[in-house]
Amino acid sequence: MQIILGIPGGIAAYKSADLARLLTNQGHRVRCILTEAGARFITPLTLSSLTGEPCYGANPDQGEWRANPSIEHIELARWADIMAVVPATADLIGKAANGLASDLLSTVLLATRAPVLWAPAMNTGMWSHPAVQANLSRLRSFGHAVVDPDDGLLACGEEGSGKLAQVDAIAEAILMHGAAKLRSLNGKRVLITAGPTREDLDPVRTLTNRSTGAMGIELARAFRDAGAQVQLVLGGDLPAPWGVETARVRSAQEMLAACQARWSGADGLVGAAAVADQRPETFAPEKVKKGEGPENLVLVRTPDILATLSAARRPGQWILGFAAESENHLAHAAAKLQKKQLDGVLVNDVQGGRAFGDQTNTLTPVTAQGPQAPIGPLSKDALARAVVQWWNFQIEGRGTVQ
Ligand code: C5P
Repeated sequence: MQIILGIPGGIAAYKSADLARLLTNQGHRVRCILTEAGARFITPLTLSSLTGEPCYGANPDQGEWRANPSIEHIELARWADIMAVVPATADLIGKAANGLASDLLSTVLLATRAPVLWAPAMNTGMWSHPAVQANLSRLRSFGHAVVDPDDGLLACGEEGSGKLAQVDAIAEAILMHGAAKLRSLNGKRVLITAGPTREDLDPVRTLTNRSTGAMGIELARAFRDAGAQVQLVLGGDLPAPWGVETARVRSAQEMLAACQARWSGADGLVGAAAVADQRPETFAPEKVKKGEGPENLVLVRTPDILATLSAARRPGQWILGFAAESENHLAHAAAKLQKKQLDGVLVNDVQGGRAFGDQTNTLTPVTAQGPQAPIGPLSKDALARAVVQWWNFQIEGRGTVQ
């Protein structure tokens, strides 16, 4: 695995040398990026000697230990399978939570698409300050992982929470999160439904909803980028994403048939489509003429795609659903999880028309363990990547997916 270890200025920085050595000895490639303050606590020579890889610095003019000045921050950002910041300082956490990019480390953190893990270490007062906790919540909402500090005697002489977690535990967390991309989804076949369905009354009229399919399409891209073979069953008019086998459908019945044809070959299913719950009882082959006075439209239920596929699943297949609710959304999601026998439900709060067609969105995952930390608000592409990372972590943690 290719690991970038970011080391800002904290007294626990010396422990990063141990971490770098441990990971290198396990056969991983570790490249360190020091901030200017980090370089006051530990030297680049120590790190490059331990890892056998270049150590990068805060500024281009610190050339003596910026081994390859031609490597840009973007190349480093792409190189990483995972980035870990150890010890994570209040300052860097605050910067990253607010998207600041004022030196090499904060810039690479902003540019990377790899999972990011933070192992904070700081004085107890700083650790418990609401500003630091709010910044960490924001990082979690981006899909970043946090290895909480331990309790103990701190370098400042105070006793309490804020001591860097054990190096072994941090190494394990890095490998688990970094491996998610390389292991769980590589070659896995993921079936995704997206977009609205259209239930035709006659050749010109149709019943549909306000979904565009944007979220499901971004999820298809994010699963594809994480190594999965994605099959997309897509309603609506948006263009299909590159590199994703796409079946276009119109009605709920067509969507079900397309999914049934693909489900047995899939490892998992993400039901992101906004499937119409009702369709007209009959389809009139000729345009229906307007009548005099009130007119009635008889509707019948469409098949529930997730529930049908869930009932036909083989062991190891996982299913994620969505819920768009305007009130009491977590309770409804928990009921849906149970009723359709899903592994997770991602809840949209659609009060006041939010979510459909919006550029940014927030999703709250609900699993058998209950509601989890909300992911977002993020643009739909970043949200999709964060959801894939979250789900990877669940898969890794449970270890139930073959
Ligand atoms: O029951 P409800 O429509 O609220 O559930 C939403 C979830 O179920 C979404 O994941 C949606 O894609 C899926 N669904 C389905 N077939 C239906 C209705 C919803 O697969 N007929």
